[in-house]
Amino acid sequence: MSVAKIITFGISKGGCSKSTSSGITSFLLSREEKVLAIDMDSQGNLTSFLTGEYDICDVFENKTVLEAITNGDARPYIFNVKENLDIIPSNDYLATLAKTMYSNKLGLDALEKALKPVMDRYDWIIIDTPPGLYEQTLLPLATKSDEGSYAIVMFDGSMFAYYAIPKFMEIIQATQEAYNPNLKTLGILFSLIDSRAKENEAMELAVEEDYPKLKFESVIKRKATTRRLSIEGFESNKELDNAIEYYVPFVEEMKKRVKKH
Ligand SMILES: Nc1ncnc2c1ncn2[C@@H]1O[C@H](COP(=O)(O)OP(=O)(O)O)[C@@H](O)[C@H]1O
Ligand SMILES: [Mg+2]
Repeated sequence: MSVAKIITFGISKGGCSKSTSSGITSFLLSREEKVLAIDMDSQGNLTSFLTGEYDICDVFENKTVLEAITNGDARPYIFNVKENLDIIPSNDYLATLAKTMYSNKLGLDALEKALKPVMDRYDWIIIDTPPGLYEQTLLPLATKSDEGSYAIVMFDGSMFAYYAIPKFMEIIQATQEAYNPNLKTLGILFSLIDSRAKENEAMELAVEEDYPKLKFESVIKRKATTRRLSIEGFESNKELDNAIEYYVPFVEEMKKRVKKH
């Protein structure tokens, strides 16, 4: 019996490819193993990306991670995407999570409790978070797993994102100390990198100096086919291999790092 390893993608800056990266990573892992994707952003981008459903308010009304957390059981809210790939969706109402947690007296272990009955059904739980360091990001980081709980820091090479890295790292450390002793930062993933931009090299050096050995060697470059994936979808998409090209080595590197920990 396997127990799921948890990977949370985050950074408190929007547009750093969190949803795209968590979605493609879930898709690639599901080719060989069982994956549960969880959308913790009320924008529901990961939900739309993996299900192809954009009318998330209606389609997933009362069928989201918000209800899973409130009722303390994820099972009724798991939506099957394809073989080996499930998702717990979100929609706009997830924005009420903090208020709902308060009125239901739920703690930061609320997502962990909801996931307990399904932990042994999956090899991986991949969680997408919003660009903010509040409950929707804290709950995933606080979720423990016997097989390991990890955070991946998304970085788009911009100055704004560079200053968001230490803030996310501080939250990871604080959550680790207070709630989840086994939580580890798995790495910093450079994404949306423009091959021609000169400043990327300087950013790489700065990150390497601040956080030695944390940067993933695999870098996700900016690609039109990757951007179009949210339109074309994963099924019968002729440019799929091209769209996910940079993610194939990344997922291998990610798996290796998890094994080493
Ligand atoms: N490697 C890439 N190449 C081109 N466009 C990308 C790539 N990764 C993400 N995008 C696009 O960049 C935008 C922001 O990505 P998204 O995953 O929504 O970021 P976040 O979840 O961090 O806000 C989206 O329009 C997405 O399609
Ligand atoms: Mg997103």
